[in-house]
Amino acid sequence: MRTTDRSFTAGLLPRFDASPSPYHAVANVASTLINAGYREIPESDEFPETPGSFLVRRGGSLVAWSTSVDTTSTTGYRIVGAHTDSPNLRVKPQPDTGAAGWRQLGVEIYGGALLNSWLDRDLGLAGRVVVRDGGSTRTLPFTDRRPILRIPQLAIHLDREISERGLLLNRQTHMVPVWAVGDRSSTFVDYLAEAIDVAASDVLSWDAMAFDIAPACVAGLDDDFLVSGRIDNLLSCFVAADALVGVGEGGPHVPMICLFDHEEVGSVSASGAAGTLLESTVARIGAALGGGIDELARAASSSVVVSADGAHATHPNYVDRHEKDHLVAVNGGPVLKINANQRYATDAESAAEFRLVCEDADVPLQEFVSRTDLACGSTIGPLTAGRLGMAVVDVGCPQLAMHSAREMAGSDDPEWFRDALGAFLFR
Ligand code: CO
Repeated sequence: MRTTDRSFTAGLLPRFDASPSPYHAVANVASTLINAGYREIPESDEFPETPGSFLVRRGGSLVAWSTSVDTTSTTGYRIVGAHTDSPNLRVKPQPDTGAAGWRQLGVEIYGGALLNSWLDRDLGLAGRVVVRDGGSTRTLPFTDRRPILRIPQLAIHLDREISERGLLLNRQTHMVPVWAVGDRSSTFVDYLAEAIDVAASDVLSWDAMAFDIAPACVAGLDDDFLVSGRIDNLLSCFVAADALVGVGEGGPHVPMICLFDHEEVGSVSASGAAGTLLESTVARIGAALGGGIDELARAASSSVVVSADGAHATHPNYVDRHEKDHLVAVNGGPVLKINANQRYATDAESAAEFRLVCEDADVPLQEFVSRTDLACGSTIGPLTAGRLGMAVVDVGCPQLAMHSAREMAGSDDPEWFRDALGAFLFR
């Protein structure tokens, strides 16, 4: 088995740090693609008839693809899908709150966050703000990397039940960050207005979320680990974008990536995987090449989608939570995820296709099934298969601490995954 020099993983670290929200992630991936010659098309514009490399953005989601002189309206696709969002804490519309002289910020829990992982951490704030612009509006990105928020854990002396019952956290009452004491005259809107340099009366609304400001790093005695917030699923997003850039205009199929927001909350939104973004983009590419509904179905029938998302590595302290004949190692290669009940979309044919891809790329491949007495997670894979009628295979890098504010993966797997996805996109 070939090894990696881990420089690819080192290069990912600043990209995690620069992507504290889905909007930031999409902006960063877009700039990677634009630097590689991709051209952004506003969704309100006509799609080009001429070949080239293009991207469209919708909120926290992005689709990018390349066509060549050989592409026709019946050419199939090789698509890598992933998600840009991660569980976190999101600022409420009336966030100014507090108790006992503390000033606090009201937050909603977004997705299936491991609540304990947000305690006693230095938290910054990031997202986007919509401001008044004459009679219209303008959306501005926003990032504050200072440790302005904290959720202090209750002292053990005041929580005598913790050693018998474990840590019990109420999502409404125990997860409210503190950010100041004393004077309450200035508000969150005042803070936000100052951060983006507009008048407070011009701040109309926001999508603002907390993030752990600790930088991503390579860790462990032998540098075996990648540690960061949002590994699920920015790792797949960055790897997919680099794989796409690496294949140029691609092979016999149209290489494409689609990075969706809102996977962690069920994907039903205008920009989520259950929305129209991918379907309408593929239909519009076909229409620009002169195709109709028949050509679209023919293209779909020869298309394959890799749904790229984090996979569970076997946790050494909880080996019994894993299927004993399908143990998964970090730095053991990408993981094929299989579930007979279609929580993952992999089937025998799509699995075989990906196995050949890994052989081509000289990349090791592992297999995951969950214990059949434990509920299995899911991905955008089954949704994409259902909406587009394309063959889908669920694959991802192994990781631990999924949905923690700070997750960990292996430092060899990202390069292998990139190479496997590159081979897939070129097939
Ligand atoms: Co995920």
